[in-house]
Amino acid sequence: MIHKDGADFNYEKQKKFWLERWEKLNYRGKLSNTTGSITKKIVREFSKLEIKFDSFLELGCGLGRNIHFFHETFPKASYTGVDINPNLRKDISRCYPDVLKFSKIVTVDALAFLKKQKPSSFDVIFTYALLLHITEDVINSVVKSIERCANRAIVIFEREKVTKECFWRIPRNYEEYFSPPCILKKPYTESNTLWIFKK
Ligand SMILES: C[S@@+](CC[C@H](N)C(=O)[O-])C[C@H]1O[C@@H](n2cnc3c(N)ncnc32)[C@H](O)[C@@H]1O
Repeated sequence: MIHKDGADFNYEKQKKFWLERWEKLNYRGKLSNTTGSITKKIVREFSKLEIKFDSFLELGCGLGRNIHFFHETFPKASYTGVDINPNLRKDISRCYPDVLKFSKIVTVDALAFLKKQKPSSFDVIFTYALLLHITEDVINSVVKSIERCANRAIVIFEREKVTKECFWRIPRNYEEYFSPPCILKKPYTESNTLWIFKK
C-alpha cells in the first residue's frame, strides 16, 4: 500500500531524504535516546527462543540503542551496526558511547553493505524501523539480501499498520516478504510488530 504522495518516492530519493534529515542538528538525539523499553522487551522475547548466535548485524542502527541493549544481555557476540548517517560514530558517541568500544560501526547504505557480504555472514540480522523506510523499488532485493546474509535468525521490529498516513513510512506484513519460517509474530505498539524468522 503506497501513500499517494509517495508514488515516485524511490530508493535514491529515500537515501537523500535521510542524509538531509541527519544534516539537521536538532534531529540528532531525538531518534533513539529513550529508555530503550521496547528494545528491552524485544531482547526478552528473543532470549526466550534460545537461539545461539556469535554475530549480530543491525541495519539502520541509528544511535546504537538496540546494539547497546542486545550486548547487555549477550556480551559475548560480535556486533556490527550500519547506517547511512554520515555522522554515525559521532552521534553514537553522544548517546551510547559503549557501543563504539565493542562493535564495528559502518556508515553505508544497507543494501550496498549486504551485497558485499558472503552468504550467512551474520548469525542474527536485526532491523528496527528501517524496512518501513525502504521503498517498493528495492524492498524485495533488501529482503533477499538479508535472507542470504543471515545464518540463523532475522529479527525485525517494523511497521505493520497505518496509524497516521505518511508517504515515507511504508507499512507491510513481512510474513509475505520473508521465506524462512516465522517463529514469532507479536504486535507491540499500535502500528509496530516484532517478527522473528528462523533459518
Ligand atoms: C527510524 S530510524 C531507526 C534507527 C534505529 N534502528 C533505532 O531503533 O533507533 C531509521 C534509521 O535508518 C537509517 N537508514 C535509512 N535509510 C537507510 C539506508 N538506505 N541504509 C542504511 N540506513 C538507513 C537512518 O539513517 C536512521 O538511522
